[in-house]
Amino acid sequence: MRAPLRASARRRSIGGMRSDAGAGAAAAVAAGRVLGSAGVCLMPSVDVLACLGVGGAEWERFAAHWDDLVVDRYAAARGTRRLRRYGKFVLTGAGELRPRSHGTFVQPDDTNRLYVGVERRFEPLTDAFVADPVFGKLVGLLGVLARGLEEERDEWVVLVHPFRVIAVAGQDGQPTPEGRHRDGVTLVTSLLVGRENAVGGRSAVYDDGGAPLLAATLDEPGALLLGDDRRTEHEVSPIRPLDPAAQAHRDVLVTTLLPVG
Ligand SMILES: [Fe+2]
Repeated sequence: MRAPLRASARRRSIGGMRSDAGAGAAAAVAAGRVLGSAGVCLMPSVDVLACLGVGGAEWERFAAHWDDLVVDRYAAARGTRRLRRYGKFVLTGAGELRPRSHGTFVQPDDTNRLYVGVERRFEPLTDAFVADPVFGKLVGLLGVLARGLEEERDEWVVLVHPFRVIAVAGQDGQPTPEGRHRDGVTLVTSLLVGRENAVGGRSAVYDDGGAPLLAATLDEPGALLLGDDRRTEHEVSPIRPLDPAAQAHRDVLVTTLLPVG
């Protein structure tokens, strides 16, 4: 399996972010090129935070939203301990993010075999989450990258899923209980927000023919995995506790973009 397809090999802690806006813009351009050519790209945390212009304090405030998620009762019924919320928006050509009533979440039948024909209703994002500048900046970046994949499309449906997957000794946490799959969108993204006492959680991306394109464990808060969902599939391995006496969790923000209409 090939090494991660990174737009950059630089790695630094959140506290060591680069404040140079030009470097952030260059990192976004580089990520777009890798995504367009390879169908997948792993952006290191330092590049993501530079793109967003986000420092340590802002990031910590953003990550705190993951302490305000609610139980996914559909996953619980299948033995997976997962907390989440859900939001739906339209990102306009002018960059405005307009909330949409999300009603129920129904995935195309060919993308999630666990919930074929099932309408799932999740708790909405909190107002504080939606108003968080880090969220707005992230969606702006993802909009630029999605338009790089389909330049003629101006407006995008943005689905937002903050997740916390939990594991305890003897009960693994399943980030993708549906197994290898696609989301039925153009751009699928996973932002690592945090991990605690967790081992595993290795992300893998495959091409249309099933050949592995990338395998990497997102272990750095702010690392961002990007995939062209039209020509790839993805999965994440289970997590389990490093210290079996304590609970483990893995926090991610999955955001997908699909052209309107
Ligand atoms: Fe997915």
